[in-house]
Amino acid sequence: MSRQEWDRLAVAMSACIACDLSQSRQRVVPGQFPPGARVLLVGEAPGREEDEGGEPFVGRSGRLLDGLLADVGLDRSRVAVVNTVKCRPPANRTPKRAELATCRPWLDQQVEAVDPAVVVTLGGSALAWAFGARHRLRDMRGRVHSGAAVGRPVVATYHPSAALRFGPAGEPLAALRADLGLVAELLRTA
Ligand code: URA
Repeated sequence: MSRQEWDRLAVAMSACIACDLSQSRQRVVPGQFPPGARVLLVGEAPGREEDEGGEPFVGRSGRLLDGLLADVGLDRSRVAVVNTVKCRPPANRTPKRAELATCRPWLDQQVEAVDPAVVVTLGGSALAWAFGARHRLRDMRGRVHSGAAVGRPVVATYHPSAALRFGPAGEPLAALRADLGLVAELLRTA
């Protein structure tokens, strides 16, 4: 892993104007890479609170994520967290395919810098980044993919916002908890 490389990337992306999201953002949100992190979570895009504060997953989805990580024995302060795009899309819309493609080199370089034992994709945009656009989350979640294009084991799961949307009895919350449990188990045996 390379702290210097991570820091270099964070500085470089904070000046990025490669797509229109740079016009409407308040802050670039490079992500978090705590020392010793062995897991890299990949979300979708900063929301309003992330855009204001410059840190990933600090809003409602982030609070749910923190709780679920703690439930399975993973401490958020030891987990690296990034997004597929580093700038908030207007009104929190889904990033466009062209925006994802433009931002992808940042993400790919972050994976190299963090060098995690396992990558966890949260939701559809991150799933498409790791496996291509044709895959469905329902078919991909619940197991470890060792041959993914990102060059590390990948666990694909739901985005916490889906868990919030479908509520406590919904499938996404149960699946997200189970899949994070799988990640914790993988780290224990890795
Ligand atoms: N949703 C994401 O995908 N990323 C964040 O940082 C916040 C909410």
